[in-house]
Amino acid sequence: MFWKQLFATKSLEILQAEVKGENRLHRVLGPISLTALGVGAIIGAGIFVMTGRVAAQDAGPAVVLSFVVAGVGCLFAALCYAEFASMAPVAGSAYTYAYATLGELFAWIIGWDLILEYAMACACVAASWSKYLNEFLLFFGLHVPAFLCSDPFTTPGAWLNLPALLITLTVTAILVVGIRESATTNAVLVAVKLGVVLFVLAAGIGFVSTSNWTDVPVADRVMPEELLIPACAKDVVTAQAKYEGRTGADKERIDRIAEQALATYKLSRTKSLAERMLAEGKHSAEMAETMARDAANKYSAKLPQSEKDKILVEGVIRRANEKAPEKATEKWGILGLMGLNRKLESIDDAVRSPFMPYGLAGIVFGASIVFFAYIGFDAISTQAEEAMKPQRDVPIAILASLVLCTLLYIGVAAVITGMMPYPEISSEAAVAAAFRQKAAGAANAGFLRGAALLISIGALAGMTSVLMITFLSQARIFLAMARDCLLPPSIFAAIHPRFRTPHRSTILTGVLISLVAAFTPINDLEEMVNIGTLMAFVIVCAAVLLLRIRRPHAARPFRTPFLFVFAPLGIVVNLIMMLFLPLYTWIRLVVWLIVGLMIYFGYGMWRSVVGQRLSGLIPAFDFGTAEDVKAKHALEPDSEAIQPSREQIHDKK
Ligand code: ALA
Repeated sequence: MFWKQLFATKSLEILQAEVKGENRLHRVLGPISLTALGVGAIIGAGIFVMTGRVAAQDAGPAVVLSFVVAGVGCLFAALCYAEFASMAPVAGSAYTYAYATLGELFAWIIGWDLILEYAMACACVAASWSKYLNEFLLFFGLHVPAFLCSDPFTTPGAWLNLPALLITLTVTAILVVGIRESATTNAVLVAVKLGVVLFVLAAGIGFVSTSNWTDVPVADRVMPEELLIPACAKDVVTAQAKYEGRTGADKERIDRIAEQALATYKLSRTKSLAERMLAEGKHSAEMAETMARDAANKYSAKLPQSEKDKILVEGVIRRANEKAPEKATEKWGILGLMGLNRKLESIDDAVRSPFMPYGLAGIVFGASIVFFAYIGFDAISTQAEEAMKPQRDVPIAILASLVLCTLLYIGVAAVITGMMPYPEISSEAAVAAAFRQKAAGAANAGFLRGAALLISIGALAGMTSVLMITFLSQARIFLAMARDCLLPPSIFAAIHPRFRTPHRSTILTGVLISLVAAFTPINDLEEMVNIGTLMAFVIVCAAVLLLRIRRPHAARPFRTPFLFVFAPLGIVVNLIMMLFLPLYTWIRLVVWLIVGLMIYFGYGMWRSVVGQRLSGLIPAFDFGTAEDVKAKHALEPDSEAIQPSREQIHDKK
């Protein structure tokens, strides 16, 4: 019985019967609204923030190819989503698909995993929202103080990310009072952000200089030790303060030492590079001299002056150099752990060029990060229950929104890397900053600054729409899980009598998301969201393949072309991106899944509707007889009553 329940599936017929049941969501969305919903959920922090970081630190101008790799992985998964969504157009997305094919345990695992994708993605987007708020305020000479703009783990001296906390709580309040189905609000936000993305392409193209793609020397790439300097400065300056009997070091001092260490490091690196080029005959003496002189002009003013600062800076650089090999291996994710990086690094060295300074590994690692930008197309499948013609329109909307966003992403990434040399691209608010940075000293500075302001507004609107749709999708998944009684229906399926929204679930999730957004290291969380979503995509590809084999004759209004090629390719491409994510991200995923399994074995398994049907504790309803309607009523989302436990039902019998 135990095993039987773990692998018990909800048949397609049950899913389809459930859709016909009463008290389902209203079918109001057509193909355009669904596509707008997809675009609304997709374009956000990924393109507006992460593109810059990945271009500067991980892939260089080849971030464009990172977008292609991630887009291909998503496209295979999207085709599989489309087939499934057409077969079972109910709320719940991959969770429901897994229930129909792989059984209850897998369904739970994927439902739990989707919380990472949706709820935690909201936290990441909220954190990025605060970066663009600052970029927006900058136009008026204002900014939110640094200690209120970051989590305490990422930035020394920071208290919390206050704007992230506030925007999440605001979205929570809006969703509770119920503009949840406001296609108009979504359409306006989507129109604003699409307009801004098109503006970036049209206005940015005039500032592109192809030399930024082809002429920045490979040696200028950001090295691992350089990335470690801020953290090492914090360690060294704090240790020094403690040694001197003070409780801690102030942020200004840490920042100053970090800046001096960076200048010292860059100057010495450029000088030794110039010498090496000269020795290898790649540079003439004159060229090497110019290179060293330019660097001296650029960095001399920032070098440490006092003896004490010089000693600290030396300590910081030594520490960063010691930790660098570990950091470099991190980029190889699990492959690095297996030692494969040593074999593959030589390939990277052979293919490095100004366009792909970080090699092939950089492109794939970059793909595993910018993958975040694509998250959201599957949100359409969580809304399948509200689609007027789900079988036709959901697949169309999934594929249309994904293809549109992929093209826009590639365009924006190309423009940004063409506007600025990649090492100088901002990792905070890349798109707006590119225009603002260009404004310095430019003849058309007014236009460029205005453009930066407009982009900030578009990014803020865009990220707000991502927050709203993704948050809504999370509520849908909870609803589906609570309908199956894998989560307490009294919380996750309760509907507010006046607002008609899942208020308890929304408030609970909103408060958790806002705390996560305010206090956790967001880069780590982004990687965790990505690995969770990639895992969901792998499972969906496998599930659709399995269903074709097991139920070849089931009605499929949309059939994925070449499924026996595309689904395995989807599994492989998404798995490869997972492999490039660091070990600690994998460990966090495993811990997350273990916590989920504890909840399943402690709660869901005992309450599950499928389990109770298997035991004959509740009838297998077919929506026909009075008894079935009664049984169904006990499971409806609107029911405020706590579901009877298996034992209680047994007692009644
Ligand atoms: N794809 C969404 C974003 O980039 C999550 O913000």
